Amino acid sequence: MDIGDLKKRIFIDLTKVKDLAELEQFRIKYLGRKGEITFVLKSLKDLSIAKRKKLGTEANQFKKEIESKIENLKSQLIKQETKTKEREKKIDITAPGIRIVHGHLHPLTHIMRKIEDIFQSMGFRIIEGPDIETEYYNFDALNIPQDHPARDAWDTFWLKTKPQRLLLRTHTSPMQVRFMEKNNPPFRIIVPGRVFRYESTDASHFYNFYQLEGLMVDTHISIANFKAVVEEFLKKLFGEEIETRMRPSYYPFVEPGFDIEMKYLSSDWLEIMGAGMVHPNVFKSVGYVPGNWQGFAFGIGIDRIAMLKYKINDIRLLYSSDLHFLNQF
Ligand code: DAH
Repeated sequence: MDIGDLKKRIFIDLTKVKDLAELEQFRIKYLGRKGEITFVLKSLKDLSIAKRKKLGTEANQFKKEIESKIENLKSQLIKQETKTKEREKKIDITAPGIRIVHGHLHPLTHIMRKIEDIFQSMGFRIIEGPDIETEYYNFDALNIPQDHPARDAWDTFWLKTKPQRLLLRTHTSPMQVRFMEKNNPPFRIIVPGRVFRYESTDASHFYNFYQLEGLMVDTHISIANFKAVVEEFLKKLFGEEIETRMRPSYYPFVEPGFDIEMKYLSSDWLEIMGAGMVHPNVFKSVGYVPGNWQGFAFGIGIDRIAMLKYKINDIRLLYSSDLHFLNQF
């Protein structure tokens, strides 16, 4: 038996191997249990001792040689294949895109923007003011002098400042005064903003929340105008099926004053804003002649509106930064 031809064929065959799968086929073809080299080695036992010795050594050597060639080629091919795989990875234009996680507006921001849009569509300008206020703007100019019992209604965070006593605004009403000091009627404005109360917290109270103040002043403004504006606003925000009612109430900076309550779906009557006709003393404090002007003012609790609209039962959730909660919006 001459293995010369076999060797030649095997070497030629090996040069044709292009990848790992073909290499494995090659290995099985020659070195597998029924492979040609295996067959040669098995058939040695039928030969004479002399021939067996010669051919046996040669065949075994060849087997080793082929095995090491296979190993070498194998590691080469592995390297090559991982390289191409990586290259393909880099430029695989068919790969599905990576989905970008989009943030979204906080429910309070969302509702605030909706409310602003509605008032803007009714001709109101948006004005903003400072979170830190003086006693004058937060109280005195709004007809709430020092020692007035009504001050107790606004539990106040006082800042440790001297000589001037500063505070965190307890409502957005001070901007009524700041705006009127610098502007003359007629005008209609809204003032969205954060307000602060030194109160203990529970499901419906938090130490800060959002309000939206409204103020409209002209020569002939009546409660009827206010009612129309507010009903239009609430219907645009909640839909036609809401009910509203006005009840007499007291706020030092308006006369008369009232609270607006609404019923939404199956909710109970819920107070959502205070309002009234601007008090002559407020006009006086900004230098207007009270007899010349009339106006209505209102202060909406934004958190309450958001809670009604989105059926949120605890105001603290709005300030929790809890993504399980926020991702629902
Ligand atoms: N500032 C009041 C509060 O925080 C709400 C309010 C009531 C605002 C009557 C007004 C108003 O403009 O006319 O409780």
